[in-house]
Amino acid sequence: MKYMTAEPFRIKVVEPVKKTTKAERQKWLQEARYNAFTLKAENVYIDCITDSGTSAMSTEQWAAMMLGDESYAGCKSFYKLQASARDVFGIENVQPTHQGRAADYIMASIYCEKGKYAVGNMHFDTFRGNAEVLGAIPVDFVIDEGLDTSSGQHPFKGNIDTNKLQKLIDDKGADQVCVIIITITCNNNGGQPVSMKNIREVSEIAKKYNIPLVMDSARLAENAYFIKTREEGYADKEIKEITREMFSYCETATMSSKKDGLVNIGGLFLSRNENVFLQANQLAIVHEGFITYGGMSGRDMEALAVGLQEVCDVQYLEYRINQVKYLGDKLKEKGVPIVEPTGGHGVYVDGRRFFPHIPQNEFPSQRLVCALYEEAGVRAVELGACAFGSKDKDGNPIWPELETMRISVSRRVYTNNHLDCIAEALGDIYKNRDAYKGMKLVYEGPITSLRHFTAGFELL
Ligand code: F0G
Repeated sequence: MKYMTAEPFRIKVVEPVKKTTKAERQKWLQEARYNAFTLKAENVYIDCITDSGTSAMSTEQWAAMMLGDESYAGCKSFYKLQASARDVFGIENVQPTHQGRAADYIMASIYCEKGKYAVGNMHFDTFRGNAEVLGAIPVDFVIDEGLDTSSGQHPFKGNIDTNKLQKLIDDKGADQVCVIIITITCNNNGGQPVSMKNIREVSEIAKKYNIPLVMDSARLAENAYFIKTREEGYADKEIKEITREMFSYCETATMSSKKDGLVNIGGLFLSRNENVFLQANQLAIVHEGFITYGGMSGRDMEALAVGLQEVCDVQYLEYRINQVKYLGDKLKEKGVPIVEPTGGHGVYVDGRRFFPHIPQNEFPSQRLVCALYEEAGVRAVELGACAFGSKDKDGNPIWPELETMRISVSRRVYTNNHLDCIAEALGDIYKNRDAYKGMKLVYEGPITSLRHFTAGFELL
């Protein structure tokens, strides 16, 4: 397909975005206490704070929404979603939830035990929070390359370090590990994929010691595409063959459908363990809704049933992954230090290497988020000292290893012209980087792991 290198869709509906002045943005930033989460979305020109719930739906999805069956129990839309999810995951038992964190809650409630370890590559905040509330100890065992933003071209930086896992089992005993969770792709370190080989090796350890293996699969199709294009033996396989193999190794999977479901809301909990599934149904009834809707409307389940199929289209995935890479390449040309190779759903800029003169306790990545909004009306998100920072038992700060700004790319929403604006602006900020100073945290809420949502800052 020599010439067919552009988007595999055309645009039928448009949503205007507002162009604003630098003076206006400076005022709004100050009012928002320099926290991108407290800016009004209407004052953002290009919104890259997340790829979650921000996808553009297709004509087929909008048409399917009209068929939504809103019956409380046993609606047609549920059975369509169940069939679609079975096809993609290869798991029979499907429980919808209102979004991913509700599935995380159900998963944590079933698998986490007080004082025991929940091992992951890098746990996403919502599972981590749920696990901690239940008294479990979440630990991140991503491979060392996954924490080194400049470590070049390791193709699967989301892999779990099986030596670290084995050592924990040897040191503490297998009965002290209540669950192993593989997050695909690994959101916290760059949307980095996990290889099939690694999933297989982790599953062998899990099986040997009788530890349940679970997958947090918000970006399952992006992970499958990386396996297809980067791992030996998968080039000729269909995306759905790869997803089914990925999930064949786990007992249970959760999904935030707001990412690779190509919808604006929804989640899934799937398990091949009947006993676990029955428990999940009970928890869903109490917290989410009846088993056949779990907090989703019939029309949203219709859209998700279609979205799960569309996301497995290899032409879509090729466009998607290459669009993210396009932005990464533009930034590299300008010398901007990014996490390499670029991952599935965004480009992560290394805040420490970008602003080497701003120490981590002065929030370099958050400073960059503010600079990018101020310059170009682009909203990104800090994944560094504020979001991932924690405290020891005496209240002293613990700074995270990774210090990045994530520029998330929404699915089927922005053109490469938008991405050019982002690259242009970041390039200019980078040229002028010495002029920037750090920030001071002046307000944080009571729960440190959630502080980034409501934190207040001042410029130094
Ligand atoms: N798991 C992963 C890997 C996620 O990235 C998210 C959400 C969730 C679970 C929770 O799902 O939002 O549907 O409740 N990530 C978003 C983000 C919020 O911006 O990365 P949810």
